[in-house]
Amino acid sequence: RRAWTIVSRGTILAAIAGTCAFVYVTQSETHPGEQLPQDPEKKTLVVLGSGWGATSFLKNLDTEEFNVIVISPRNYFLFTPLLPSVTVGTLEARSLIQPTRFITRHKKRNVLVYEAQAQEVDPVNKTVTFTDNSEIQGSSSTVTVAYDYLVYAVGCENQTFGIKGVTEHACFLKELSDADKIRQRLMDCIETAAFPGQSEEEIDRLMHMVIVGGGPTGVEYAGELHDFLIDDLRKWYPEIADKLRITLIEALPNVLPAFSKELIRYTESTFKENEIEVLTRTIVKDVGSKSVLVQDANKEEREIPYGLLVWATGNTSRPITRNLLAKLPNIQTQRRGIVVDDYLSMLGADGVFAVGDCTATQYAPTAQVASQQGQYLAQMFGRIGLKAKYERKLAKLRASGDASPEKLENIVKKLNRVSKVTPFHYSHQGSLAYIGSEKAIADLPLFNGNVASGGGAAMLFWRSAYVSTLYSVRNRTLVMADWMKVKLFGRDVSRE
Ligand code: FAD
Ligand code: NAI
Repeated sequence: RRAWTIVSRGTILAAIAGTCAFVYVTQSETHPGEQLPQDPEKKTLVVLGSGWGATSFLKNLDTEEFNVIVISPRNYFLFTPLLPSVTVGTLEARSLIQPTRFITRHKKRNVLVYEAQAQEVDPVNKTVTFTDNSEIQGSSSTVTVAYDYLVYAVGCENQTFGIKGVTEHACFLKELSDADKIRQRLMDCIETAAFPGQSEEEIDRLMHMVIVGGGPTGVEYAGELHDFLIDDLRKWYPEIADKLRITLIEALPNVLPAFSKELIRYTESTFKENEIEVLTRTIVKDVGSKSVLVQDANKEEREIPYGLLVWATGNTSRPITRNLLAKLPNIQTQRRGIVVDDYLSMLGADGVFAVGDCTATQYAPTAQVASQQGQYLAQMFGRIGLKAKYERKLAKLRASGDASPEKLENIVKKLNRVSKVTPFHYSHQGSLAYIGSEKAIADLPLFNGNVASGGGAAMLFWRSAYVSTLYSVRNRTLVMADWMKVKLFGRDVSRE
């Protein structure tokens, strides 16, 4: 048995080494050539954000006809669908991110990237004011730039419904730093519970992990936490591992309201098997440092003690978006986000386009929607760029006075062709979620209907779908290596 273990581990390590060598050889040539400098004759295109919408836009954009400036407090793109895996160390944080400059340095014309937070958009004077909010400050920290076009993709922030204590005591799960904070706090709860002399009641509290919100974020986190308990905690902390309890609190009658009924049932029964307690029709009304106050369907209230509280109750607009909406009160009337037309152009704001979670559209706030919108907008800007090119050419030919009528007509035809833009069309590729114990659920639009599937096969599909959509070969390699690492050595329980 021992010999077999050594051989199988050796094979896996050899496979990793082979993959590394392959990646090294194929990726070492990716340094781009010289870029065109920014040109004062070209229009200025400012992009706010570096998430799904902005990154998909930048990736597909031809920058030749624009001076592009990217402003985002995060200088990287984060692959959010696998973020819950970072909370327990299934994946390492850096495996899911890709620097924004990696994208921009491959562009034809130089793109300026500023790690800063946009504070205000002035849609009348067409300016953006942004601030460096990072720890280290230089002599300049607030700057205003003028734009001809603005691509607004700042996403959303966490919804708390103004419930007291959420911001102070709960962890969110949206950014990389959130996942890291959860990982640290989780281990702190476990180590503290293992501390000598702890009362039984205190161990029970510390080992009670409560998740509020039964949407996909809450469900996926519960699944990851369960895996951590089964695969690792029992080995590393046998004395207290069985004290770990997971409770998911959801205000509606069931979890995952956006999934099909059979997948909801499948998820709830898997959670039951995995001893994840699901409290539906239960609303969290107040959050203290060690317990939450909940109200059930019978309007009865009770306190639930917790060690770690993860808050996943959806999205709300960022302050900068609310500020922008307030500047156009008669046109922008939706509190949930920016209203755009069929071409993603913000109503009432010349030259502003908005994509992703910050918009109020018929679509769910998902990465799929944001990335398709970003891609669509990049194509539209391709046309805007071409149009500018043909217009310049036409003006030059007309000014020279010696162009034949056929030549002029030819350019006018091309101009008319690129001026025709079709509206944005969303193509839904299906919904996937990981629910723990190597099971996933998949709602897929196939054969003119919907195919719902849950289990191990769906988990393999979930893994391969996300690996293939990761940003780069580097990300794919790191994620697969992390999965392999966890299979071989288990998750790392050290606390930084
Ligand atoms: P984001 O990706 O949030 O990007 C917003 C960007 O704007 C960020 O770079 C941010 O730093 C920047 N920004 C913020 N404030 C400012 C400012 N003032 N100035 C400039 N920039 C600013 N969707 C799916 O389709 N499938 C999934 O499996 C899935 N899983 C998810 C798992 C988790 C844990 C979470 C949290 C979300 C998941 N989503 C998933 C939803 C998906 O991540 C979002 O819908 C998507 O990120 C929206 O893209 P966006 O570009 O609008 O916003
Ligand atoms: P969500 O909005 O989908 O779900 C939040 C849930 O919290 C709701 O079901 C709501 O009823 C519940 N809730 C609200 N207040 C509550 C309270 N006080 N007490 C108890 N329950 C309360 O939010 P989530 O999961 O963060 O997702 C946000 C978006 O990101 C969604 O559009 C989702 O589709 C997308 N996403 C998709 C994923 C996937 O496809 N695998 C994974 C994660 C997010």
